[in-house]
Amino acid sequence: MKNEIINEVSSILNVDKSLVKIEYPKDRSMGDYAIPCFNFSKELHKSPIEIANYLKEKLNYSSNVVNGYLNIFMDKKQTTKSLLEKILLEKENYGFNDYGAGKNLVIEYSSPNIAKPFGMGHLRTTVIGQALYNISKKCGYNVKSINYLGDYGTQFGKLIYAYKTWGNKDVSDSEIINELKRVYVKFHEEAEKDQSLDDEGRKWFKLLENNDEEALSYWNRFKDASIKEFNKTYELLKIDKFDEISGESFYKDSMQKVVEMLEEKNLLTISEGATIVPFDDIAPAIIKRTDGASLYITRDLAAIFDRKERYNFDEILYVVGNEQALHFEQLKRIINLLGYNWEDEVKHIGFGMLLQNGKKMSTRHGKSVVLMDVLYEAIDLAKKYIQEKNPSLENIDEVSKSIGVGAVIFNDLKNYRINDIEFNLEDTLRFEGSTGPYLQYTYARIQSLLNNKQNIEVAYDNIEISDDVWNLIWNLSKYQENIIYAKETNDPSIIAKYLLDLASDFNKFYAHERIIDDIKEYTEFKLNLSEAVSIVIKDGLNLLNIDVINQM
Ligand code: ARG
Repeated sequence: MKNEIINEVSSILNVDKSLVKIEYPKDRSMGDYAIPCFNFSKELHKSPIEIANYLKEKLNYSSNVVNGYLNIFMDKKQTTKSLLEKILLEKENYGFNDYGAGKNLVIEYSSPNIAKPFGMGHLRTTVIGQALYNISKKCGYNVKSINYLGDYGTQFGKLIYAYKTWGNKDVSDSEIINELKRVYVKFHEEAEKDQSLDDEGRKWFKLLENNDEEALSYWNRFKDASIKEFNKTYELLKIDKFDEISGESFYKDSMQKVVEMLEEKNLLTISEGATIVPFDDIAPAIIKRTDGASLYITRDLAAIFDRKERYNFDEILYVVGNEQALHFEQLKRIINLLGYNWEDEVKHIGFGMLLQNGKKMSTRHGKSVVLMDVLYEAIDLAKKYIQEKNPSLENIDEVSKSIGVGAVIFNDLKNYRINDIEFNLEDTLRFEGSTGPYLQYTYARIQSLLNNKQNIEVAYDNIEISDDVWNLIWNLSKYQENIIYAKETNDPSIIAKYLLDLASDFNKFYAHERIIDDIKEYTEFKLNLSEAVSIVIKDGLNLLNIDVINQM
């Protein structure tokens, strides 16, 4: 609807479309849309009020001139009819747009570290990243997702030595991560007593760097088993694929080239034996350690040049916690220092921590919390609630899974990503309030209403559009711009909040109006509206990677 108005205004005034902005009046009784006319003054040599008056005359809407604005009232019946018809026709394609058409976008997210369990610490990057991936697709981007495993670094030398020396070689893939944890702790205990163990760790890392067969075979075993474990978590989160699974180790041989590039531009300095890139106002980037071993940022530099070459991205998003902000700032600056002009295409999509009672989440023993454990706990609790509400529900296990997992995801995505968020399982799973289950419940409620549909034609001229209905229509019409805004800000909470508003408007409408009316046509109209709401709730939840449920 907005686009239509923009087209009309630009052709009436003969100005470029980009000059035409459409706003929402603060007070809805003043109009549905407001067109500020200040932008055109210069070009048309007329005052904003004159222009607004001229537009009022030419446009086919009821409207008022207020200061330099033209406030427009949409025809409620016409708008309702055309919007509902559009949504019911387009279904899950409603909201699709070409904001990113023709652009290559790379999103790196999740990126857990191998030989460790998939902890709660990697929940946020995984769900924010996946939501941004889905949202970007809906905006027409050509998107590639990358899972960049933390599979390299000196700790792997220690792990290899420790596992080779004390590890049980017969453990299964699912047990090996615990076994690695056990021997890693042992390594550090022993190293306190015997300093030569650190040399062993270094030696095995060197061997790994040099592709020694034995070192590689241990490391491969750790990596394969880790990926198998990670996949169980991804399956629960309904993340069925990454376009690319790579890892830091992938870049072990291309780092020398990075160092040479830096040398060539005279960017390197030696400081206390380490090779660094210094900056005036932020901490230096350490490119090589004293012992010559390469570092995290060196690998990231190699990775980004490789990605630029392979994907020719217009934009690359790194969905990584706020605590790595300095790292990505250094990365961007080095790209610039190297003489490239695309550092603004590189975006660190930071996010806050998950807290429990205001503190960083950890187990009673101070260890990181395993994500799968939390997801299963959520599923169990969801099951308990359903058994209380609706004990005869079919496929209760499947439903509990969608609710439990969806609740955890929604809790994460509903807040502005930069903020820290509190994790409380009970709150997350409430069926009332700002939760995933509340949205799923609203959807299911609509599905059962829809059994009353008769699929008859509705003559919209006969329909009275109440305030509740008009509110809903208005909210539905804003779906697409919310999707675009979510991508512009790279913030999935825009969608989450939008859905909460929509559901709450729907529930108001449901409380105030009898859906099953005496007049068949009215019933059908309200069911059409309800169906449109459910289409948008479903699609919006899918953007957040959350399932809907037909019955709960
Ligand atoms: N594996 C890292 C971690 O768990 C995150 C990797 C982030 N991505 C990157 N390109 N540095 O902290």
